[in-house]
Amino acid sequence: MKRRVTKAVFPVAGLGTRFLPATKSIPKEMMTLVDRPLIQYAIDEARAAGITDFIFVTARGKSALEDYFDHAPELEGALRRVGKTELLEMLRATNMDSGAIAYVRQNRPLGLGHAVWCARRLIGNEPFAVILTDDVIAAETPCLEQMVDAYAEIGGGNMVAAMEVAPARASAYGVLAIDKDMGSLVAVRGMVEKPAPGTAPSNLAVIGRYILTPRVLNNLTRMKQGAGGEIQLTDAIAEEIERGEPVWGFRFRGQRFDCGSKAGFLQATVAFGLAREDLHDELRRYLHTVVALQKAAE
Ligand code: G1P
Repeated sequence: MKRRVTKAVFPVAGLGTRFLPATKSIPKEMMTLVDRPLIQYAIDEARAAGITDFIFVTARGKSALEDYFDHAPELEGALRRVGKTELLEMLRATNMDSGAIAYVRQNRPLGLGHAVWCARRLIGNEPFAVILTDDVIAAETPCLEQMVDAYAEIGGGNMVAAMEVAPARASAYGVLAIDKDMGSLVAVRGMVEKPAPGTAPSNLAVIGRYILTPRVLNNLTRMKQGAGGEIQLTDAIAEEIERGEPVWGFRFRGQRFDCGSKAGFLQATVAFGLAREDLHDELRRYLHTVVALQKAAE
């Protein structure tokens, strides 16, 4: 049976302390990669995958996100008056139909699992996607679209995006224990969130794209604390494996940037800048100059 996934949860309640002081007054999801906020990349990816219902799990201080997806009549009017139709079109692409986007609050920062659980009443009894906006993925076919297609083929269970990481970095991720490796699909026999250094079951890490069954939400109801004292999504998915339900790792085609870290954000800025026709030449020239100067100084 082909299952369509129509709902996606965006946990956007995090404080973004790694980007202070910028995040003192703007949500980290509003930080700009080239000329679009991170959240726009996540929404575009979800739309490409056929998502129609967007659920934001927010917190205090995140109202800029709500404004961003709302119509901006004054701005649109001003652009219309001066005939800036291209900008107007671009702006319209950020508007959400009334009712397409729902906001629920996570009133205490208890972890990613808890954030996703906060959306339970809006999800109902169907598989749903989760997108972590920190993980920006450049890909010909957007990552979640690849996953939705693969999910339709296998016809159910839970699926997480996965990527090989350097063994020394594994303890920063959720890590998969591999049962059967079939290339792009991996049957998973266990998952560990932030394994202690040297104890990771593999170097195949979970990246922030998930397709989950509502049962995972039930598992989260127990509010079991995991790594770092937080309620972890990884643990709730791992419980499904124990119950005999399939969990798949999906090696996506594309390049992932960790925009939750400063170095990753800078790398993404360069890569996305180079990929833009209007910026490519100037940026490339600049990078060449910088590298040459660095080399000369060494
Ligand atoms: C979260 C998840 C982790 C996953 C990671 C991917 O961790 O808990 O399993 O590997 O995202 O970016 P965080 O980066 O929020 O600590």
